[in-house]
Amino acid sequence: MALRGKHLLGIEDLSVQDIELILSTARSFKEISTRPIKKVPTLRGKSVINLFYEPSTRTRSSFELAAKRLSADAVNFNVSTSSVTKGESLIDTGRNLQAMNPDIIIIRHNIAGAPHLLARHCKGCCVINAGDGMHEHPTQALLDAMTILEHKGRLDGLKVVIIGDITHSRVARSNALLLKKMKSQLWVCGPPTLIPMEFEQYGARVCYDVQEAVSDADVIMILRTQRERQSEVFYPSTKEYSKRWGLNKQRMAWTKPDVIVMHPGPINRGVELDPDLADGEYSVILEQVSNGVAVRMAVLYLLLGASEES
Ligand code: CP
Repeated sequence: MALRGKHLLGIEDLSVQDIELILSTARSFKEISTRPIKKVPTLRGKSVINLFYEPSTRTRSSFELAAKRLSADAVNFNVSTSSVTKGESLIDTGRNLQAMNPDIIIIRHNIAGAPHLLARHCKGCCVINAGDGMHEHPTQALLDAMTILEHKGRLDGLKVVIIGDITHSRVARSNALLLKKMKSQLWVCGPPTLIPMEFEQYGARVCYDVQEAVSDADVIMILRTQRERQSEVFYPSTKEYSKRWGLNKQRMAWTKPDVIVMHPGPINRGVELDPDLADGEYSVILEQVSNGVAVRMAVLYLLLGASEES
């Protein structure tokens, strides 16, 4: 298996074959979550530590559920009640956790590159990046790809538009890398102050006009503005942002009838996305969340379980 014994630090490191393997494995695991007994013995005896330095609803819970559905032991490390509050460094924290012999450490950190640092210092266990600063969030891009494939049957040639705060988004970066590898046609749209030129390197078309961006789109991904990462003012006001860049039902008149609307969460309802649209017929937002469990089961399995069967 292509992933065994490795780390999952970013989409950047994955080949097209790796991505296809993860997605096909996730498809086969998805059914387990619909059974009355949602558990298989695949990773019995393995242990996984969730090391989250930033808040999370979806990623942390779905990694924990993914591990438990594969019968691995999952430990949630609570940074706010740990010795991190006494000044323990990331490297020391990682090395101490590694001394307990986990098979995988899943890390979310506000600093880009923290998972890579942990991987260098924790030999003998796999590290998964669950989001590092403004850099990457690889399992989010994988679950997004799975959701698009379920609706559109392909990634190649699809017009995918990401609207919002592109600069501060690790989701946008991981999606851009994945969609480029899978030959989708990526557009990014938002305030000029929130779109870095690096996206042109990913083959993205940069557009500042929402109507132009969404017309003919097969997929629209909406991102929130990440106020917690913004040290400057990038747009005049939330009201202005919503008026110019927000997606609402009226604007859906500009789109194809079979377009899907995605959002990684959390949603700022009424700012970047109208509540009716978030819960309406175009939305696949909760399907993204369900697919997150399947993708994370696949990643855990391919890093660990597959090695012992082949
Ligand atoms: N999409 C995502 O990363 O959500 P959480 O921050 O809730 O994990």
